[in-house]
Amino acid sequence: MNRKSCTRLAASAILASACLAASAEIVNVSTANTTLLLDATDGAPLRFLYYGEKLPASDVTGVAESASTPLDAYPVYGMTALRETAMSVTHPDGNMTLDMAVTGVERKNTDNGEETVVKMTDKYYPFDINICYRTYKGSDVIETWAEAVNRGKAAVTLGEFASAYLPIRYGNVHMTSFYGAWGNESRVEEAPLVHGMKVIKNKDGVRNTHTAQPNVMFSLDGMPSENSGRTIGAALCYGGNYRLRVDTDESNFHHFFAGINEDNSAYKLAKGQTFTTPALALTYSDEGKGGVSRNFHRWARKYKIAHGEKLRKVLLNSWEGVYFDINEQGMADMMADIASMGGELFVMDDGWFGGKYKRNNDTCALGDWTVDTTKLPKGIGGLLDSAKKAGVKFGIWIEPEMTNSKSELYEQHPEYIIKPTNREPMHGRGGTQLVLDLANPKVQDIVFHIVDTLLTNYPEIDYIKWDANAPVMNHGSQYLTADNQSHLFIEYHRGLQKTLGRIRAKYPDVTIQACASGGGRANYGLLPWFDEIWVSDNTDALQRVYLQWGTSHFFPSVIMASHISAAPNHQTFRTIPLKYRIDVAMSGRLGMEIQPKNMTEDEKTLCKNAIEQYKSIRAVVQQGDIYRLLSPYDRKGAASMMYVSPEKDRAVYYWWKTETFVNQQLPRVPMAGLDPDKNYRVTELNRIDNRPLSYEGKIFSGRYLMANGLEMPLDHNVDHHKRNDYASRVLLLEQAD
Ligand code: DGJ
Repeated sequence: MNRKSCTRLAASAILASACLAASAEIVNVSTANTTLLLDATDGAPLRFLYYGEKLPASDVTGVAESASTPLDAYPVYGMTALRETAMSVTHPDGNMTLDMAVTGVERKNTDNGEETVVKMTDKYYPFDINICYRTYKGSDVIETWAEAVNRGKAAVTLGEFASAYLPIRYGNVHMTSFYGAWGNESRVEEAPLVHGMKVIKNKDGVRNTHTAQPNVMFSLDGMPSENSGRTIGAALCYGGNYRLRVDTDESNFHHFFAGINEDNSAYKLAKGQTFTTPALALTYSDEGKGGVSRNFHRWARKYKIAHGEKLRKVLLNSWEGVYFDINEQGMADMMADIASMGGELFVMDDGWFGGKYKRNNDTCALGDWTVDTTKLPKGIGGLLDSAKKAGVKFGIWIEPEMTNSKSELYEQHPEYIIKPTNREPMHGRGGTQLVLDLANPKVQDIVFHIVDTLLTNYPEIDYIKWDANAPVMNHGSQYLTADNQSHLFIEYHRGLQKTLGRIRAKYPDVTIQACASGGGRANYGLLPWFDEIWVSDNTDALQRVYLQWGTSHFFPSVIMASHISAAPNHQTFRTIPLKYRIDVAMSGRLGMEIQPKNMTEDEKTLCKNAIEQYKSIRAVVQQGDIYRLLSPYDRKGAASMMYVSPEKDRAVYYWWKTETFVNQQLPRVPMAGLDPDKNYRVTELNRIDNRPLSYEGKIFSGRYLMANGLEMPLDHNVDHHKRNDYASRVLLLEQAD
């Protein structure tokens, strides 16, 4: 087969390997609406050609044959030492260069899509790099990662080992990224890419999304816009330390690299070993940031989140209600209370365990996972009986990766913690918390057995809240050998993944929440084993509008645990009326984080109605397409978004006022995502007003709603003594014809 016909063949799909064996050329990794093009000519470096809007076959050839700037698809260090690179290696003889050439392309079908592997080998050393791509049926996300293969007789050292590189044409490109802190996670930051290097990183060791996220969007047409504009989204699927770099140099490109953070993590790759990087998930949409979010959400629900397409239960979590003050009657009362409000699950948080040391505060007992029978004389069995009686499911909190210096586990096994040799351990939370060394297979067993014991003894346990409240404070593994100490961060996460894999293999159905001092684990590296995340320890409804707004850029609402909590709020001390707290919580996976005993009957009734209404819209909220309409960051006095069912026959619209001034002028918010030719009946949910809205029960076309939206009154029409400075609305739109 000659070169021309080979290229023509490639235009329809990824090139068949028979053709490539003769003369590897254009690799076309396509999804329904996107195309990634590479030039994988045998004996030459792998070249990047194109990523973006789906190319018709006729354009594939044109694009391939007219590429003006040769861009490596995975730049390596050494032969051109001038630029940023994705991989650098020191060979056994001290040579620090790589010179890679394509040797072939392999393509195979997987259960869910296709995998393409471009194989490269060094021209001199026995060292290979495979660049891998995975597509998923019905999804516009492409995952890409690298494999470094040491075929030599001695170890090599990997200095850089990025998952992927993507060149982005220089122009008016803006980047959306996320920063924050505990209680203030997922803050959205949008800025033009300017010359120099922008680095987004994490070094926590255990959790990785409090201060930044390994997820970014690139808006190629100037200022980021929600529903229009060419936009690329990239999410590193990794739970450990990461580094994202965008280098804007003198070339025509912004050079984007993403992968494990190599700082203090040089990796010695023994002979015969393969190092596999985590995947970078990429998508492209011409529907702006919203299009990228929707692509990620659909892919995530179907392929990347445990039970992502299953509806979640409405729950009450005990933490803000009782903190460490756990006791049998108190738990039974909470179960009965949440059941009476229509909830389906009760989760007992921290404080239930401890033998020699009782977990009455955060200074002790992690690792000693035996029930504190002074608090719970009938143990977990007794709690399960109460749950059964109340008619709710039961869940439990654990923090299995951790111990305290005041614990029986640590007293018996000080060798299980992370700490450098010849040095005292540094402590985290409570002045005593220590991280267990998951690089150690014995520790992996311990963590597995914590869950295994609970679920074997009590198979009725429906839900686990898996917490992680400390970072790696000082570098050192008591398990890894002296020459492999720099593997600590990587081996910790391999150990964690292995353990989670074992747990999921034995307990595929249990719901597990990834909590890590709130939103420390919002990443696609861990979500395959977790059903949801605790978005933040901050439950203040106003700040949650911002927190959930940021989180929604990459993560679907089905994983966003969003709880109604007390007023004044325990983190901000702000007093927000219950209606607003409910309306915000109802935009995620609804739950409660409150002591129902302290609620009035009126408040309970409001929650009961809200839970009932939430159940009727749960499928749209948890599985629908998101459309962000008015950003709280725009400071227009309100924020608004909506979810639309895939069939576009139902939608839920949210509007929350974010500040209050008398006679303020708020924008009217056009809706999005509806079918212009369908008619929708509007019903207000969680209504507290004495008079219905003027458009209650009325029918409007999708076209009208998307052009004009509906007028939101500035406040609620309630009796004088019930007035306050907050207002919010939740509207259900149902197809009327
Ligand atoms: C931190 C979590 O984020 C909280 O929700 C709670 O579970 C506490 N830990 C318990 O110690």
